[in-house]
Amino acid sequence: MIVTLTNQKGGCGKSTTTMNLALGTAALNYRTALIDADEQKSCIETLQDHTKPNLNLYEAKKDVGSLATKLKDKFDFIFIDTPPHSHHVMFQAMAVSDFIIIPLQASPLDIRSAKRTIDACEKVQKEVGRKIPSYFLLNRVNPRTTLSKEIGTYIRELYSVPLLQSRLHNRVAYAQSLMHGKSVIEFSRSSDAALEVTNLLKEVHRIFQDQ
Ligand SMILES: Nc1ncnc2c1ncn2[C@@H]1O[C@H](COP(=O)(O)OP(=O)(O)O)[C@@H](O)[C@H]1O
Ligand SMILES: [Mg+2]
Repeated sequence: MIVTLTNQKGGCGKSTTTMNLALGTAALNYRTALIDADEQKSCIETLQDHTKPNLNLYEAKKDVGSLATKLKDKFDFIFIDTPPHSHHVMFQAMAVSDFIIIPLQASPLDIRSAKRTIDACEKVQKEVGRKIPSYFLLNRVNPRTTLSKEIGTYIRELYSVPLLQSRLHNRVAYAQSLMHGKSVIEFSRSSDAALEVTNLLKEVHRIFQDQ
């Protein structure tokens, strides 16, 4: 299964979420690959000194689609982190994906700026002639707010892309754990952050299996 995390907007949590999903999946003993297709190489640089038994890291540029296809049979899960702004790389990654996650911060400005990404996502599905499950993921949600219902309505009015039920809150653990090359799950198994990433993994696996 190939999962691409994408959003043309920088800073919405693509790399943080990709690393947490890949590390969490590898920790469950799945053969896991993380393809870092962003030339900033955030994932590679953060994780390269922390080797994990089931996690393989790859770098890609415009060849991201062919690399993922080549690796597909070798791994149970492949997670692709994509760059902001490079339409071409995003397009290539989406085209070979089985699942697309679009991390998004819960603000009207960020939601509106996802338009280009959503347009590309729809265009890719038309071009490849298959439906690719695509979902928004709310990230950096303030744990003390209750605006989720309002945000859900706001998103539904603009886009037909659904929102994952799981969401990631704004927590220091997301930055702190990666300083040690760990996902929030490995960093502190019983933390709130670990629970939300575990729920996200379960939801993604469930949606994929149910289709
Ligand atoms: N859920 C979160 N809670 C706290 N900080 C976060 C969270 N998600 C991302 N961040 C922080 O936000 C910044 C941007 O995240 P990053 O994953 O690099 O985004 P992108 O890859 O989309 O540019 C980083 O400093 C990261 O540590
Ligand atoms: Mg990034």
